[in-house]
Amino acid sequence: MSMMNKINCTLLFVFLVLISVCLAENKQQNHSPKINSSASPSKANKNNGSNNNNNNNKIDLTSNGGGSSSEGGDINQIPQTIKISLTNDPSEMMISWFTNGKIGDAIVQFSESKSDLINYSANTNNGVITVNGKSTTFSNWKGYSNSVVLTGLSPKTTYYYQCGGSSSNILSQTNYFTTSNFPTTTTANTSGKNVKSTTTDNFQVTPFTAAVYADMGYGGGYNNTVKVIEENLSKYSLILHIGDIAYADYNKVEQGNQTIWTNFLQALEPITSKVPYMTAPGNHDVFYSFNSYQNTFNMPGSSNQPWYSYDYNGVHFLSYSTESDLAPFTQQYQWIKNDLETYRKKNPSGWVIAYAHRPYYCSTQMDWCRKQTLRALIESTIGELFQNYNVDIYLAGHTHAYERTVPVYQQSPIGTYEYPGGTVHFTIGTPGNQEGLDHNWILPAPSWSASRFGELGYGQLNVVNNTHILWQFLTDQQVIFDEQWIVKGYFD
Ligand SMILES: [Fe+2]
Repeated sequence: MSMMNKINCTLLFVFLVLISVCLAENKQQNHSPKINSSASPSKANKNNGSNNNNNNNKIDLTSNGGGSSSEGGDINQIPQTIKISLTNDPSEMMISWFTNGKIGDAIVQFSESKSDLINYSANTNNGVITVNGKSTTFSNWKGYSNSVVLTGLSPKTTYYYQCGGSSSNILSQTNYFTTSNFPTTTTANTSGKNVKSTTTDNFQVTPFTAAVYADMGYGGGYNNTVKVIEENLSKYSLILHIGDIAYADYNKVEQGNQTIWTNFLQALEPITSKVPYMTAPGNHDVFYSFNSYQNTFNMPGSSNQPWYSYDYNGVHFLSYSTESDLAPFTQQYQWIKNDLETYRKKNPSGWVIAYAHRPYYCSTQMDWCRKQTLRALIESTIGELFQNYNVDIYLAGHTHAYERTVPVYQQSPIGTYEYPGGTVHFTIGTPGNQEGLDHNWILPAPSWSASRFGELGYGQLNVVNNTHILWQFLTDQQVIFDEQWIVKGYFD
C-alpha cells in the first residue's frame, strides 16, 4: 500500500468514526424523554399538591422547549387545552389540562428562568421546581382532567412552566404567567430558615387590565375577537369569561358535546395558558349537572359550588351562578351575603366587582330582559345585597349585545359616574357566538341605559387606582366603541 493510500485509509477511518459518533449523539438527543425510575407513582402520591424543591423525586422529562413533545410517547398523554386560574391565595396558580389517556399523577415543572426549564434534566438541579397534582376522570366525558396548584410564588414575577404526568414521557410546550402584586412577610421558622408567607388582605390597588366577555362559543363569529385578545394579551392580567363558554350543549340543556368543548378550549389555549382565565357558568354550560364545567374550570374556593370570590391586585371579585338557586335563604344567597359582609367589614372603601352570566339591567327585546320573573327576582334580592354592600360594578352577558348603565338601583338612576350611588352594570354578550348579535332594543331606552349597541367585541376593565376605573368596549376591529371613567362611590 502506497503512503498516499495509507493516508487515505486513515482519513476514511477517522471520517467513519466521526460519523458514528455523530449518529450516536444524534440518537441520544432524539431519544424519547425518559422517566426516572425513582419517580414511581407511589412516591409521587405522597407529594400530591405540594412543591417538591429537592428533586429527589424528580422526573426526567427532557424537554425541547418548543411544541408538545410526543416523540416515542403515547399521543393520548399529550397535554391539551391548558388553562391557568387563580385560587384564593395570590401566591398560588392553578394549572389545568386534559389528556385523552392516563398519565399517573399530574405534574408541573416551573422556574423563573425559561432556559433553566427547557435545559432541565434530573442531573442538573438548577432551580426548576416539580409539583404533583391530581388526574381524575368523571362521568359523561372521556379522558382525564388534570390539575396542579403551584404554591409559594413571589409577587409580580413571571414563571415558565410545562405540564406532564408521572407515567408519561410527554411534556407540554413552555408556557408562562405573571403573578399579581401582594404583600409578603418573611419570618424564620423553627429551623431558623427564612420562610415567605402571604397576607391575603391586600387593599392597595395595583393597576391592571382585565378582558371581559360572555357568550363566546365555538364556531360563530368569534375568530376576530380571539385574534384581538391574543394581539393584546400582554396588556391583560386577567380574563373573565362570564358564562356560555363553548355552546357545547347543542341547545339541549342536559347534554354536552365534548368535541365542541375541546375545539373551543384548543382555540383559546394561547390565551388560557398564559393569563388567568376566570369563568362563571351560563345556561349553555349546565349540562350533566355542571359536571363538565366544574371538571374543566378550577375556580377558587373549596365549596365545590359554582360560586366563589377572590382578591386580585387590591380588588375584591365575586362570581355567582345565575344557573343555580339564588332566592333568599338558599345556600348561594347566604354565601353571597356572607362574603360581601365579611369583605366590607375588612375594607369598607375598596372596589368590589361582581360577575355572573345573566344581567338584571338589560334592554334588548330578549324575553330575559323584557319579562322574565327570574330576572326580576335577581334584581330584588341580589340587587339589594349589591346595594347594601356597595358592589361597584356588575358584569354579565346572556343577551348578545353591549349595554352600559348609569349607577342604578330599583330601576332609577342614582348618582353619577363621578359620585355613584349604586352599581354600574355592563352587559358584554358580544364576542361573537353562533347565534349572532341582538340588535332589537326596547324603545324608548330606559332612563338607566347609557350606551347600547350590537357590535362584535369585548370589554376592557382598566383598574387605575383605589378611586378610578376606566371601562372600554373594544370592537373586533380594535376600535374603542365606548369608554367611561367610573369613580369609587359610597352608597347610602
Ligand atoms: Fe346565556
